[in-house]
Amino acid sequence: MAPDHAPTPDLPLTAIDLVERAADLLLQSQYAIALTGAGISAESGIPTFRGKDGLWTKHGEPPLNQFEQFASDPTQWWQDLRRRRENPDELTRAITAAAPNDGHFAVAELERVGVLKHVITQNVDGLHRAAGTQAITEIHGNRGYLRCLDCDSRHPFDELPEALPPRCDACGGLVKTDTVMFGEAIPRDALRACREESERADCMLLVGTTAVVSPAADFAWQIRSRSFPLIEVNLDPTVISSHCQVAIHAPAGEVMSRLLDRVKRGLRTDD
Ligand code: APR
Repeated sequence: MAPDHAPTPDLPLTAIDLVERAADLLLQSQYAIALTGAGISAESGIPTFRGKDGLWTKHGEPPLNQFEQFASDPTQWWQDLRRRRENPDELTRAITAAAPNDGHFAVAELERVGVLKHVITQNVDGLHRAAGTQAITEIHGNRGYLRCLDCDSRHPFDELPEALPPRCDACGGLVKTDTVMFGEAIPRDALRACREESERADCMLLVGTTAVVSPAADFAWQIRSRSFPLIEVNLDPTVISSHCQVAIHAPAGEVMSRLLDRVKRGLRTDD
């Protein structure tokens, strides 16, 4: 049941008080989910997209017709990708070398102790899975996988066949990397899962995202519109900060570790 009052943002408190408040909201929830973005992987050495050192800030966003370019000549696109993977650029090297950090491990542990029911991540780096998160939807795909454009079946990237462009074993459809390109629709199965999880949620924990990209950010607004609390853990204030019951502006690794400790302490006293 939605609370009968619209939550109002807390008064400015110290970060510790805010962590206490965030933990209380998670402990009171029946179905809390998380929405994560590039900021949770920043402490793993992967650059974010926006903000002063962001990839898009430095190099501009990729062309909006990225997917159209792929579809117009998949063979050429796959040959270019194979060449790029043989001579990886700085970003590819950073992602390939990255390991989960305290933020990812805290998210996985919050799931293990039964507080977080699902993670929607915008990241394609696979670090949540590597940290042990099981209930996850990678709404923008996972760079370690291939995906069939016709039947959505996915296979590890290592299974890429020699013959280009790769065709789906199951249905013969055209196969691309699972990472969602600019101009490409979010895969149907991922969108359906996000909708179902958001409709069940009575609390959302946003970690490391500017919350400006649809449809990912829409799920946060949808939960907020049903008067359920949003909790933000992000280095900088964002467009959604003032709509969050609790907004903690500090590095995710430190905050998420403290949040996990406080939640586990709360679970012990609830026993
Ligand atoms: N801890 C917490 N937050 C951090 C940290 C950190 N150590 N470092 C950076 N941040 C925050 C930044 O303040 C910023 O608000 O992470 C956020 C990252 O925002 P974006 O770069 O916009 O990344 P994201 O929100 O994931 O972008 C969404 O946009 O272009 C698309 O496909 C791309 O999935 C991406 C989507």
